[in-house]
Amino acid sequence: MVKLIGSNKIKTAVFISGAGSNFKNLVQFSFLNKSPIKICLLVSNDKRAKGLNFADKYKIKKKIYDFNNMKKSESLILKQLKIDKISLICLAGFMKMLSPNFIKRFKGIILNIHPSLLPKYKGLNTHERVLKNKEKYSGCTVHYVSSRLDSGKIILQEKVKILKKDTSSSLKKRILKREHLLYRKAINKLFFSL
Ligand code: GRF
Repeated sequence: MVKLIGSNKIKTAVFISGAGSNFKNLVQFSFLNKSPIKICLLVSNDKRAKGLNFADKYKIKKKIYDFNNMKKSESLILKQLKIDKISLICLAGFMKMLSPNFIKRFKGIILNIHPSLLPKYKGLNTHERVLKNKEKYSGCTVHYVSSRLDSGKIILQEKVKILKKDTSSSLKKRILKREHLLYRKAINKLFFSL
């Protein structure tokens, strides 16, 4: 179990593959005095990920692993996590499944954020599927990462009402805003038992 000792913040790595709005949000959160985390590392599997720009902007170390050889990439990442003394990983739009071996070997906590009310709508294209099924609500979930896709224990969840005029892109936008708040709340809940 990772504990906050004195004023030391939890050394955190964020893993992304795309736009990185959750990464940006977590960085801004980490800058607050009362935030329990310090973001020390950004990992991406895609050198074109837009979110990498935020690492430059906020002067955060970034590392890219192509995952062509997953075993090798994961082993290099584990080494880097050790070097940076990382004890929390926040997945934020990271499009690779981490192997059971990686999850076992990393001794800290791994969290993920998913844009649906898990256990409903695991996997990709959640908003499209939610709309197609004429759901009244969707939402987002922060959960622990286990070796099964989007299946670890849920930490927090937030419901979002679906509007008649919603398209997948309007719904995505509205849920993304809530994701940003939810990730902060979930981390506070973990480390401050709020
Ligand atoms: C978010 O909707 C997140 O829940 C999902 O992928 C999206 C990433 O968005 N896992 P961003 O890259 O953080 O903007």
